[in-house]
Amino acid sequence: MSKVIGIIAGSLRKESFSKKIGRVIQGMAPEGFEFKIIPLDDLPIYNQDFDDHQEVPPAYVTFREAIRALDGVIFITPEYNRSVPGVLKNALDVASRPYGKSAWTGKPAAIFSNSPGNLSGFGANHHLRQSLVFLNMPAMAQPEVYLHSISKDFDESGNMTNDGTREFLKKAVDAFIAFYKKNA
Ligand SMILES: Cc1cc2nc3c(=O)[nH]c(=O)nc-3n(C[C@H](O)[C@H](O)[C@H](O)COP(=O)(O)O)c2cc1C
Repeated sequence: MSKVIGIIAGSLRKESFSKKIGRVIQGMAPEGFEFKIIPLDDLPIYNQDFDDHQEVPPAYVTFREAIRALDGVIFITPEYNRSVPGVLKNALDVASRPYGKSAWTGKPAAIFSNSPGNLSGFGANHHLRQSLVFLNMPAMAQPEVYLHSISKDFDESGNMTNDGTREFLKKAVDAFIAFYKKNA
């Protein structure tokens, strides 16, 4: 049976570059692997009362099950105010609870950050890395994946037009698969 790697983009925006990167790498899954896009739409903001008083929203149940079913995760994060967008942090929080039942534990991960600017989401990349340590998710160290000027890499139909970026993404995906095999 194929190993299933989740692709989680930290943006709800229809024309999100992070989502577009996710669709590009989805086609790069090697034999024996399936890359599955996990959407974050409709995930309410985490409130611990939901878990403490057995009032868990159905969207949490679905999302936690979806994460539990994964073998690994590739996070594609934009940067908001030099950190991880709230929607992605919220997703981490939702599936990390109830206490002692985190759905993330032990799943190998990769972080691909991006920005239309020059700094490539460096701040978001490393804040996300900090959370993954606590969530006990081994995160690929090299290659570091920082994608700058990302808006220039897509045409108006959402196709990736920069072969250099596509080749780099393929190398990063291949490195993550090797990392996954060592750390699963
Ligand atoms: C609230 C907010 C904060 C932002 N902060 C940053 C930032 O710190 N660094 C950065 O490079 N871009 C920042 N941006 C610009 C985003 O990189 C840009 O909107 C990007 O397209 C968002 O990712 P997406 O295309 O996947 O939705 C910010 C955008 C918003 C809406």
